[in-house]
Amino acid sequence: MKWIALITAALVTRAAVAQGFSNSGPSNGGSGPYLANYSTDSTLTGHTLFAPKQIPDGLKLPVLVWGEGGCQANGTMFLSLLNEIASYGIFIIASGDPGGTGQTTSKMMTDAINWVSQNAGKGKYVNVDATRIAAAGQSCGGLEAYDMKDDARISALGIFNSGQMTEAASKQIASTITKPIFFFLGGSSDIAYANGERDYKLLPTDTPSWKGNLPVGHSGTYMETDAGKFGVAAVRFLQWTLGGNVTAAEYFTGPSATTDGWSVESKNLNKIKVTSL
Ligand SMILES: *[C@@H]1O[C@H](CO)[C@@H](O)[C@H](O)[C@H]1NC(C)=O
Ligand SMILES: *[C@@H]1O[C@H](CO)[C@@H](O)[C@H](O)[C@H]1NC(C)=O
Ligand SMILES: *[C@@H]1O[C@H](CO)[C@@H](O)[C@H](O)[C@H]1NC(C)=O
Repeated sequence: MKWIALITAALVTRAAVAQGFSNSGPSNGGSGPYLANYSTDSTLTGHTLFAPKQIPDGLKLPVLVWGEGGCQANGTMFLSLLNEIASYGIFIIASGDPGGTGQTTSKMMTDAINWVSQNAGKGKYVNVDATRIAAAGQSCGGLEAYDMKDDARISALGIFNSGQMTEAASKQIASTITKPIFFFLGGSSDIAYANGERDYKLLPTDTPSWKGNLPVGHSGTYMETDAGKFGVAAVRFLQWTLGGNVTAAEYFTGPSATTDGWSVESKNLNKIKVTSL
């Protein structure tokens, strides 16, 4: 078992570590109502911010903190996905500088949560609502999101093409998740499939959870314009768990995700109660 886990760990890392690795398709600022783009802020080094370019008065932006595949410190690695999410009125703090190099740690996600908690509602960030924050990431970045599981400021977890590397880690971590957790996996050809499936099975019985598999492998549909079906599902996951959007919730509680090709399992989704923004 140990060897299998180590080989899996090596592959998940190696899949993404080559310089210039891209996990972004074309993006014209997302398909949502508010064209998005990225920027940086000198008071939060090593991160990339995604937001609507123009924020209408009164629009409240809940927050996503995001960890990159391969834990690469390239904040624009998922440009198409993150612009897509931001274009629906979500403020995102991704670990890594735009086009940056090197490795991230989950501490950078905590730094982002600390920073947004201090800056939301003020100045440039007057529309940002840090009472609603989700943590998510792809592959190695999903493991960083798991590390936020006990942070009281986080209200939902998104695990994209990821899962704990060993059975021992699954038992230790997945079995203690109490926040709503959504898995977006790439089917049996996704290198993280077995890990994500195992984590899902080990969740506490009363944790609200959803797991979808789209048979496209570890790279999801991030290379499509606006990140394809992973983009669609990611937006609805956040519109629901952060924004209390009941139409978005129906994507998961009704037939739409299945119609889109996701093989779905879920538990306790009726326990997710979020007031609308
Ligand atoms: C960062 O990500 C973008 C988009 O995926 C990619 O085009 C670029 O090559 C990456 N940069 C580095 C240094 O890996
Ligand atoms: C997005 O922001 C980057 C960095 O500031 C800039 O180079 C680029 O032109 C912007 N793109 C759009 C479409 O506004
Ligand atoms: C709620 O989500 C649906 C589906 O994504 C979207 O069409 C609608 O505009 C959203 N409503 C609000 C108020 O954001």
